[in-house]
Amino acid sequence: MNKWHKALIASACLAASAAQAQTVNIICSVQADWCDLIHTVYTKLSGHNVNIVQKTSGEALAQLNAERENPKTDIWFGGTGDPHLTAAEQGLTQEYKSDALKDLHPWAQKQAADAGYRTVGVYLGPLGFGYNTERLERFNIAPPTSWSDLLKPGLKGEVQVANPASSGTAYTMIATLVQIMGEDKAFEYLKGLHKNVSLYTRSGSAPAKAAARGETTVSISFIHDVTSDAVRNFPVKSVSPSEGTGAEIGSMSLVKGSPNAEAAKKFYDWALTPSAQQIGLAAKQYQLPSNKNSKIDPRMPDTKKIKLINYDYAKYGASIERRRLIARWQKDVNSQPNE
Ligand code: F6P
Repeated sequence: MNKWHKALIASACLAASAAQAQTVNIICSVQADWCDLIHTVYTKLSGHNVNIVQKTSGEALAQLNAERENPKTDIWFGGTGDPHLTAAEQGLTQEYKSDALKDLHPWAQKQAADAGYRTVGVYLGPLGFGYNTERLERFNIAPPTSWSDLLKPGLKGEVQVANPASSGTAYTMIATLVQIMGEDKAFEYLKGLHKNVSLYTRSGSAPAKAAARGETTVSISFIHDVTSDAVRNFPVKSVSPSEGTGAEIGSMSLVKGSPNAEAAKKFYDWALTPSAQQIGLAAKQYQLPSNKNSKIDPRMPDTKKIKLINYDYAKYGASIERRRLIARWQKDVNSQPNE
């Protein structure tokens, strides 16, 4: 724990002393370090009983569906925006307009408006690749700079990406490729990529970690997840593909029928403040925060230097589209042999 953490927790303790013990149950779809730090800081700050369980974006959506008749969860924090939009459309989350909404970047406000204020943007992160510099050198392969580079025969068995049924990251990849190439060409591409993929992981950040640890050469991941390992001195670098790429609007939603709605709204308001958004950075997470007054770190992606597509969040967050694309991927890609 560094000095910053200690100071934050000390000031949080003071604020907590007058508060009543309430409970808030959170599904957390960012990396474990960030979820753990939220737990530590917010417990001290609020004095509430904060229960946090970490799940991928797809697992979180499935859990909210399973709890539909008898919700146990109050807040779904983080995870890619598309399944939050799906949850909103499916009536799993409820409208809430935080006072902090006006302080958010337009992309975060648009995410809220697209969902009838049943979700809100908390961070933004562009998709890209990570590669292990030592493995590339060993195999004498040039660093990939484009989506098409990932199809090269030299990368056979050397690419990892997550499974879109569980991972919001992988679904962002499919939606991005469909928007760049058109659907049929995107699926041809994914079939070609399948030959080079050694593993479809459950979580979206696992491939970046595998590349960092030298278990694979290339990961398809959010750029900030590669940075999280690069700053820990793993031999990884990130790439933003030359054909263009999509970005997630990591989101937060208040669950419909939340058993602790009052405490949940307090958490929601807090999570949109600059001080709460610094916790991601303290946990070495480098997504761009949604509050205009939150601190920007030079290691966060510079969207001006990335060829970002105009990702159609409303279209790709619609449940019918998400279900259809994932089913097509299962049938046309995942169930095929990769020889
Ligand atoms: O915390 C890392 C992160 O990449 C988030 O930016 C993102 O919202 C989330 O993981 C997606 O996780 P998954 O792909 O496992 O659903």
